[in-house]
Amino acid sequence: MTSPLLRLEGLSVGYRTRDGVVPAVRGVDLTLARGEKLGVAGESGSGKSTLALALLRLLPPSATVTGRVLLDGEDVTEMGWGRLRAVRWAGASIIFQGAMHSLNPVQTIGDQITEPILRHQKVSRESADTRVAELLGQVGMLPDRARSYPHELSGGQRQRVMIAMALACEPDLVIADEPTTALDVMVQAQILTLIEDLVARRGISLLMISHDLSVLSDVCDRLAIMYAGRVVEVGPADEVFRQARHPYGAALASAFPTVGDPASRMRPQGLAGDPPDPQALPSGCAFHPRCAVRLEHCDAVDPQLWPATEGHDVACVRVLPDDGRSLAPGPTRAEEAAR
Ligand SMILES: Nc1ncnc2c1ncn2[C@@H]1O[C@H](COP(=O)(O)OP(=O)(O)OP(=O)(O)O)[C@@H](O)[C@H]1O
Ligand code: SF4
Ligand SMILES: [Mg+2]
Repeated sequence: MTSPLLRLEGLSVGYRTRDGVVPAVRGVDLTLARGEKLGVAGESGSGKSTLALALLRLLPPSATVTGRVLLDGEDVTEMGWGRLRAVRWAGASIIFQGAMHSLNPVQTIGDQITEPILRHQKVSRESADTRVAELLGQVGMLPDRARSYPHELSGGQRQRVMIAMALACEPDLVIADEPTTALDVMVQAQILTLIEDLVARRGISLLMISHDLSVLSDVCDRLAIMYAGRVVEVGPADEVFRQARHPYGAALASAFPTVGDPASRMRPQGLAGDPPDPQALPSGCAFHPRCAVRLEHCDAVDPQLWPATEGHDVACVRVLPDDGRSLAPGPTRAEEAAR
């Protein structure tokens, strides 16, 4: 079996704040095969962006990372800066949500796409210009758009430019963090199809983040559901979307948030309560205060991922042979934080 392109081992991220550490990602293990498309879903604050930023060490200085991020066997958390710079474009690149904030307002988009090509690939200015025209064509834009400044483009066009930039150095992995949330519904669909198409044609692996499970299940091969900084369910996209085994995954799948509606993003329909404060997580299963099918011992045991069916892992006592009654109570949050 070939080794996965990306392997996260016990990845945890805490943000230091004046009120103590915010545990944003807690012990995530995930793999992504070459050419595979993995979707990551979860409500606002579940740790999706923190996870994405940790993959390329783009977190702010207040963040502390533990665990390993193995990209093609190399641990990103231990790379020197020179190596990391090269990996950020040529190994893996990231598409953020709001293109306007990521593009330089005083530089033409042609120059912005050319920059990483000249820096990371030993090519002449002329070949770089040809490559920019090609990339713009691939994202459905005319080559003369290279002379435009970001403010001269629509939101959808700016997001296309971000995609062209992410593909410029032919990375093995593209990370897309809510790449369409800021766009209107029609443009969202076009951009998603474009990303899907380009990664499939080039055999690029994709890690796509969204709060919207239905979008991810269309695009991705596998889905991971995050809750309170943990992956609570991961498996084949269709299976997780249609037959989620974790009560939170099931609630998210049936929520069908209205595409483009910020309110449904913040509060999935049919799911009572709010996500917990990461600094005051409930005991046992962190989802238990909102879980419609909780058992009486769910506030005492902290279930880890367990294979519910082959290739489909779920962190819920209900998938365990004895409903997890034989599990010793998990560590208290204070004990976990002290580790
Ligand atoms: N720089 C920071 N300092 C302190 N806490 C932070 C920081 N960035 C994020 N957090 C906290 O970490 C947790 C995870 O945030 P993150 O942005 O990763 O969530 P998300 O799943 O991407 O949410 P959304 O869907 O809203 O984008 C949240 O509780 C958030 O408030
Ligand atoms: S462990 Fe208990 S509370 Fe948590 S999701 Fe499963 S049934 Fe619900
Ligand atoms: Mg986010």
